[in-house]
Amino acid sequence: MISLENTQKISKEFGSPFFLVDEKKIKENIDLFNDTFSEYKGKFILGYSVKTNPLVGILKIMKKYGVVSECASSIDIESSLTAGYKYSDIVYAGLFKSHETLNNSVTNNIKLINIESLQEAKELYEICKKNEKKIRVGIRIAFPSKTGIKSMMGITYDRFGNSIKMGEAFKVADYIAERKDYFEIEGLHCHPGSNIKSSKIYKIAIDKLYDVNEYLINKHNIEIKLINIGGGVGIKEVKFYSLFDYGFSTLFKIFGKKYEINENNFSQKKVLSEVVQYLNKKFSKRKNFPDIMMEPGRALIGNALDIYCSVVLKKETESGNWLIIDAGTNILSILTLLTEQHEVLTSSTIKEKKTYSIAGPLLYSSDIIARNLKLNLTKEKDFIVIKAVGAYFGSQSSNFLFPRCSNVLMTELGEFKLIERKETTGDVLLRSIDL
Ligand SMILES: Cc1ncc(COP(=O)(O)O)c(C=O)c1O
Repeated sequence: MISLENTQKISKEFGSPFFLVDEKKIKENIDLFNDTFSEYKGKFILGYSVKTNPLVGILKIMKKYGVVSECASSIDIESSLTAGYKYSDIVYAGLFKSHETLNNSVTNNIKLINIESLQEAKELYEICKKNEKKIRVGIRIAFPSKTGIKSMMGITYDRFGNSIKMGEAFKVADYIAERKDYFEIEGLHCHPGSNIKSSKIYKIAIDKLYDVNEYLINKHNIEIKLINIGGGVGIKEVKFYSLFDYGFSTLFKIFGKKYEINENNFSQKKVLSEVVQYLNKKFSKRKNFPDIMMEPGRALIGNALDIYCSVVLKKETESGNWLIIDAGTNILSILTLLTEQHEVLTSSTIKEKKTYSIAGPLLYSSDIIARNLKLNLTKEKDFIVIKAVGAYFGSQSSNFLFPRCSNVLMTELGEFKLIERKETTGDVLLRSIDL
């Protein structure tokens, strides 16, 4: 947490709430991947999943440290180009790729397009033919995961990429391999989930990619150069509710208590080292080790942003003592909040403690950030800091009732610099005026 003096200064100048981006943390996160993968016997390519937080100021930092941009839409691509990336540094991978964006990617010689379906492969082939351009492609393989609380809610990963079980992966592989005039198969890709805290899931993904590669070798004599095992690495600062945790936290809420998820033994370094060892073993039979790519989002940016909010109102009701802050689920996405636990701090230094629930300023009942936290006695105009909100919060924020907030960078030298200003009401109305 930065000093109260700096918090007051920044919120006065750039508005409250504000996201604070810590460049030093981003660099440490990048180093952890590169250092761990230095044990891999082939080449390692680190990408950044831009949609996790596509701020141009963040992309500039990623570019500075040699991280490849992995884009899922034209917004991601345009943000990357604005940050100084070239098409030749960009991997394009997304469930729906618009015709126009595919066309631009082909004509500008994008580094790689990861193909999601046979339908997309056919569309892309026509685009290449029309433009007389041969391009490098990867095939995204679906990860058949069915675990965790999200999948119980019907939220699964199996529609992303091409299913091995349903045969789609092999159909796409055949289609591409038989069209060498416009396609060069460079990669196989599988993104196995989010907030993963064990190497087991990556080992399943690696086995799947290996099997498709064997198929390509045996049937088409094609040995894949690039194996991309996606993103998804968890961070220790964000605790993810398991079904068990969810049940207990609901019970605790009923009794006015806070439930703490216990995940103390998670280490990113350990998980990644196990992945590296597995890759070294798995590909040891090959003449050349393939290049390995990862494109984490959360693990590069999640713990590098905190949000600083002001207490705008205090209320004592029959359900507890409420601190109403100026950031609600307009800025901190409700689905993410329901599945993750984030540390919350107060700027108050009063030693006396009180139990508070924290809610946003929106006019619906689920606009709740946290329940039953024991904090120092907090008053209006104090600041509440919600930690490790770099992944998916800013990019999914909306201007429901209030404009989106600013992002301020704390540089490696400890200086503060605005990298995205607060939205104005004028920005919000811009699309309606002049019609
Ligand atoms: C293809 C792909 N790669 C990488 C990521 C980043 O995931 P995470 O932020 O969990 O690392 C995602 C997120 O959904 C994704 O779809």
